[in-house]
Amino acid sequence: MQYVAEELVANGLTDILFVTGRNKSSIENHFDSDPELYRLLQTNNKKDLLQEVQFEDLKAHFFYTRQREQKGLGDAILCGENFAGDQPFAVALGDSILGIHARSQCLSRMMHLFEAHNADCVVAVEEVPPEEVSHYGVVHPAESAGDWMFVKDLIEKPPAALAPSNLAIAGRYVFSPLIFGLIRETTPGKHGEIQLTDAMRKLCQSGKRVLAVKLAAAEKRYDIGNFPSYFETFVEFALADPLHGAAFRDVLLKLLKQP
Ligand code: G1P
Repeated sequence: MQYVAEELVANGLTDILFVTGRNKSSIENHFDSDPELYRLLQTNNKKDLLQEVQFEDLKAHFFYTRQREQKGLGDAILCGENFAGDQPFAVALGDSILGIHARSQCLSRMMHLFEAHNADCVVAVEEVPPEEVSHYGVVHPAESAGDWMFVKDLIEKPPAALAPSNLAIAGRYVFSPLIFGLIRETTPGKHGEIQLTDAMRKLCQSGKRVLAVKLAAAEKRYDIGNFPSYFETFVEFALADPLHGAAFRDVLLKLLKQP
């Protein structure tokens, strides 16, 4: 969540609403101040660690609301309706980090296109191998202008044979408030959940402008929502750490040499 918050702030988004749920108060605690910890770090002169826990330096405003039942991503977005009001807003899924140490300007490019084309939705997409499309929302692109394109249609987790492309929705969205009404009209879809992709599909069907922006090569999406890719991400980020990366590489090499 820390990485995602840093990415949002780096893209100029400083009013951040977390849609959480029961038993997730650790997220609020993480971004709160912790006077005892500060005092301890100060006493022990741990300046580097002190810097890492001073979230006021992020200059963001954090808000929290809870999704009462796990009714799907569409329903979770609906929890932000009063927060967004009549303004466009961005959505960042917490299980996706974009780029090593979250250095991505993708949302800035998306917001720019949203305004330039008077769009109602801009979504980030990444190319995935055809056998993996069934894990994602997939876009049906119309004409492409290289790193972005207009979207004709979208489908949530299609079987490979029915996928209109291998461009998978990559966990970042910009919406106009029109999406809220369409989510409310959306009946439960895949896995019995209210799917955001199904509401976005309604935008396409009603002739609204939906655009997709490709992630740049340096904006690889790290999925931390399942153990195998979480482990992979952790190791890759640790290896790239300017302070601890080199020593961690040695540890890893030693471990790998063990029978
Ligand atoms: C969600 C979206 C899907 C998107 C994916 C990206 O699926 O429904 O369209 O491609 O996030 O992470 P989930 O991963 O929650 O099953």
